[in-house]
Amino acid sequence: MQGFEKYYRKTWHERLEILNKHTISDEQVKILKDGAKNPELGETMIENFISEYHLPEGVALNLVVNGIEYLVPMATEEPSVIAAASHGGSIVKKSGGFKAETKSRLMIGQVVLENVSDVSEMQKELELLEKDILKVANDAHPSIVRRGGGARSVKLKILADDLLALYLAVDVKEAMGANMLNTMLEATAEFLKSKLKSDVLFAILSNYATDSLVSAKCSIGVETLAKNGVDGCEIARKIAQASRVAQLDPYRAATHNKGIMNGIDACVLASGNDWRAVEAGAHAYAARSGRYRGLSTWNYDEKKQVLEGELTLPLALGSVGGSISIVPLVSVNRQILQNADAKTLGEIVCSLGLAQNLAALYALVTDGIQKGHMRLQLKSLAKSVGATADETKILVKEMEKRKVRDSVHAREILKEMRENRDE
Ligand code: MEV
Repeated sequence: MQGFEKYYRKTWHERLEILNKHTISDEQVKILKDGAKNPELGETMIENFISEYHLPEGVALNLVVNGIEYLVPMATEEPSVIAAASHGGSIVKKSGGFKAETKSRLMIGQVVLENVSDVSEMQKELELLEKDILKVANDAHPSIVRRGGGARSVKLKILADDLLALYLAVDVKEAMGANMLNTMLEATAEFLKSKLKSDVLFAILSNYATDSLVSAKCSIGVETLAKNGVDGCEIARKIAQASRVAQLDPYRAATHNKGIMNGIDACVLASGNDWRAVEAGAHAYAARSGRYRGLSTWNYDEKKQVLEGELTLPLALGSVGGSISIVPLVSVNRQILQNADAKTLGEIVCSLGLAQNLAALYALVTDGIQKGHMRLQLKSLAKSVGATADETKILVKEMEKRKVRDSVHAREILKEMRENRDE
């Protein structure tokens, strides 16, 4: 675009001036400036930095995982997410909390070879080279080897008559490991090019982190589920039915999983991890049977009078590296999370996802989702029509009383309130 040549080379102030000249007002420049609390850091993290995008952050309470109670920092713009997470956590806490486990913690990456004339022959050649490949990968990243990690295994898969994928599994220790993997994979690709004269199409980590699976389970005494005269058994039965629907119907499965990811993303983001990677892995895992399904399952055991929940998903998280060590807020959040190591963090996040899911299903099969959400949503609505903090309280009460849920009516009430006040 004209005027934006070599934009990345400009200073932050110059960038704002150019934007000011071409698209935004002085007032809007001020919003960008005021929003940037740490422009130096922003400039080191991304290109063409102009401001910081802020999300509200809160803590979810009541999350007990493997006998330890955690406060969970969550960054989210959705009004009811944190309240729901705390609610789900409190239900499970009454029955002893979540039991979570990490099945393994290896990251996977792939090198894809193209134009392979005989894929079976190439597969055999690569099998013989496994030790050399592991050495090449480890030599490319000696520091992870010194920390006790490193490349662990090579797997091969024929993708088509002319395409072959090599998968490298790496123990990345406390890191999420994307950069580490990519360095190792590119070194492996170079080795294969020179050793086998193969054509490498690409080398990159996979976000389908099936060697980083984490599971959380809970078993809830149904008596704790009773609400407004409705029997706990009936609520447990309905939650199990709702989970069945998420196994049968992709339309429901997507929403069911979105609810789980409401919690997971918010904590992954607050902990300085890559939530897009986690999202991609989670949805790929949800479709692992060939059909997209709910990630969690709920089962009502009538004999034992318990509702049992389970959630398993790939969680490639780190406790070091990336933005984790450089963003001050992330260090605070890590402290709130009791400086959990990468494995424990995965177990907290997975339990949080299950708590979030429980709260959503509980609301869906009892009062419906809108009732619990409404107060917070009305607050946002009041703000969006221009109410001040003092006006918001009165406006929310008035909207509740008149059952108003939309901006046209909210604006009218606000106008009325102001007219009455001015009289
Ligand atoms: C809203 O963000 C999430 C829910 O729709 C999840 C669900 O339906 O399970 C409430």
